Amino acid sequence: MEFIITDDYDGMSRRAADVVESVVEDDGACVLGLATGSTPIGMYACLAADQAAGKISFADVTSFNLDEYVGLAGTHDQSYRYFMDQNLFDKVDIDKTRTNLPDGCAEDLEAMCADYEARIRDAGGIDLQVLGLGHNGHIGFNEPRADFPVPTHPVDLTESTIEANSRLFDAIDDVPRQAVTMGIGTIMKARKILVVANGEGKASIVAKAFTGPVVPEVPASVLQLHPDVTVVLDREAASALDLA
Ligand code: F6R
Repeated sequence: MEFIITDDYDGMSRRAADVVESVVEDDGACVLGLATGSTPIGMYACLAADQAAGKISFADVTSFNLDEYVGLAGTHDQSYRYFMDQNLFDKVDIDKTRTNLPDGCAEDLEAMCADYEARIRDAGGIDLQVLGLGHNGHIGFNEPRADFPVPTHPVDLTESTIEANSRLFDAIDDVPRQAVTMGIGTIMKARKILVVANGEGKASIVAKAFTGPVVPEVPASVLQLHPDVTVVLDREAASALDLA
């Protein structure tokens, strides 16, 4: 596990964008696994600026997002499809027909999940998976529980996640109660993983996830078992980390 610690959020965003760009430079037709949330917004802005400046192209990239709310269409401004369009896809030269998110409006969610896994497999697997880190250690919508759920699957959101995400909705009752997420197994199959985290609020979970025991109660701790993980943090998020 490689740690890159930067002075601030802008530094974290820049260094994380460099990691993504190095994968795209190596193979223009790579497969990126992408995340939503507040943390990667600055990284996506760096990628969009670099594409506009002609430093990088996403024209042949395929992408698969980690997760999506159940019941929100892609036109809903809190759907993860909408987030990705706004923050990245509509700002770069990616072919939108090659951008994939789980379909939270599918009638048969289980079948959609199996199909999502098959599409990732058919694309050759994920070359680089980007992850944010939940305050409780969740990655994607894989919440703390007694086991590590393996493939893409529907999940009931915990009260703490509903509450954390309600800041983005008009009312807490508008927050969907379910989501679809890549499983821990889907994430662990990615050839390379990039974790981004910033701010003091993430300091204790960063330390727990990356230097504590590997347990499903801290889903991100499983990343300690992956052979190629880069963690990009700002100083605040790294402040409880003892790497000695
Ligand atoms: C987003 C996702 C979530 C977030 C996590 C951190 O697609 O799957 O696991 O990465 O909740 O969110 P932020 O970055 O808003 O702190």
